[in-house]
Amino acid sequence: MVEETIYFGRFISAPQPDELLIRTGAVLVNRNDGKGVIKKADWTVTSSSDAASKFGVEAPVVVAKDSGFFFPGFIDTHIHAPQHPNVGIFGKSTLLDWLTTYTFPLESSLGNVNSPMYKDAVSPPDPLARAKAVYNRVISRTLANGTTTASYYATIHVDATNLLADITFARGQRAYIGRVCMDRPEMCPDYYRDESTEQTIANTKASIAHCKSLDASGELVAHIVTPRFAPSCLPQTLTQLGELAKEEGLRIQTHISENLNEVKLVKELFPDQSSYADVYDHHGLLTPKTILAHAVHLSKEEMRLVKAKKSKISHCPNSNSALGSGLCPVRELLDEGIEVGLGTDVSGGYSASILDAVRNACIVSRHVGFLHDGDSRYNVGVAEGLWLATMGGAKVVGMEGRLGGFEEGMLWDVQEIALGEVESDGQGEDLEVDIFGWESWENRVAKWVWNGDDRNVRRVWVGGRLVHETR
Ligand code: GUN
Ligand code: ZN
Repeated sequence: MVEETIYFGRFISAPQPDELLIRTGAVLVNRNDGKGVIKKADWTVTSSSDAASKFGVEAPVVVAKDSGFFFPGFIDTHIHAPQHPNVGIFGKSTLLDWLTTYTFPLESSLGNVNSPMYKDAVSPPDPLARAKAVYNRVISRTLANGTTTASYYATIHVDATNLLADITFARGQRAYIGRVCMDRPEMCPDYYRDESTEQTIANTKASIAHCKSLDASGELVAHIVTPRFAPSCLPQTLTQLGELAKEEGLRIQTHISENLNEVKLVKELFPDQSSYADVYDHHGLLTPKTILAHAVHLSKEEMRLVKAKKSKISHCPNSNSALGSGLCPVRELLDEGIEVGLGTDVSGGYSASILDAVRNACIVSRHVGFLHDGDSRYNVGVAEGLWLATMGGAKVVGMEGRLGGFEEGMLWDVQEIALGEVESDGQGEDLEVDIFGWESWENRVAKWVWNGDDRNVRRVWVGGRLVHETR
């Protein structure tokens, strides 16, 4: 059976930092190989009935409402799935006390009955049941917000990490799954730590095997080697994780230079390395497949090292503001030629929405510009924010040319956006973004970016499979 679908309507994407590409027409998606690849695109098609004859196939036609559009699915290059219950809960903390006060207790509760989260439990805790609820919910939340690919951190627990892989796979979200590695005794609580380097490596291998058993191709779900951050791992663990990633051909994700106290801590713990980036390089962790989250306080020399190693950066502006970590100079990273995508960093970040990350990238860039004598060169605009969220993210997760647009050969990882049409009497659908009808399409996209949320996401597909639909 030939499994093909035609999509007809308006297609908007951001192929370049300064370009919104707005086209109408149709694309033909083939799911025969299970992948959901765009086989043909025709920007001359003007009606849904015209589409099938233009492509010379008989296939169902999915139509985007005239007031809406198809947009490439968002790529969240940095999100902590187990932290979802804590979104918005951070008080006045900053990174290091936030980790010990809020984050480690919650993460440990997904695998450890002795977690401080269970100290007042009235019945015996079932950590895996908790993990199931949390992971199903975070996937619902990210899909509802148009995230088609996510690079997840899980916890140190193999069972719960494998469960996250199972759920993303079953629900059809494209995902990298990282079992979190942390075994440096003085930096990790006793209730939440790998026992040794050997255990870190063995447990990581178990999770790698599980991801491979789900998806040998690694196209939909793949393990990503995840040393939490330099301070949380023994030096030999960092080295062995680098070797393991190399042997297995896997991606690596970690945090870098997020907070000034953290940078100071890294200097104290690794006195022989010249910088935070050098710590990762020294242990073989700066590779073209490495995603470094935050990079708020990198020196120019570190930026050049990251660029030379072709490592990628996940910019998490919402989190950097919420935890008071600082203002990441994205323009400087891009000017160095570093590939950058966006991350929500739930729950350092308070929102699972990449659209919110786009907004915050725009806002933070303006603060950076303000600190450079109001130089507007630093400003990230709407198109560039959307480019970071799609094309940028695709490069960061190694899917360049496959995700982020509507060109032939690309995957149908797409969200359908609906905007609220205001009627002549001022009434209309309550979709948050009010469109009066006289706005240009560029301006409609700007209004979506600044005011949109999950109410504007009607349907979401990954590899041509419908994975979310608003009721
Ligand atoms: N650094 C080490 N662990 C974490 C984490 O869970 N979140 C953030 N934002 N930074 C970290
Ligand atoms: Zn993080």
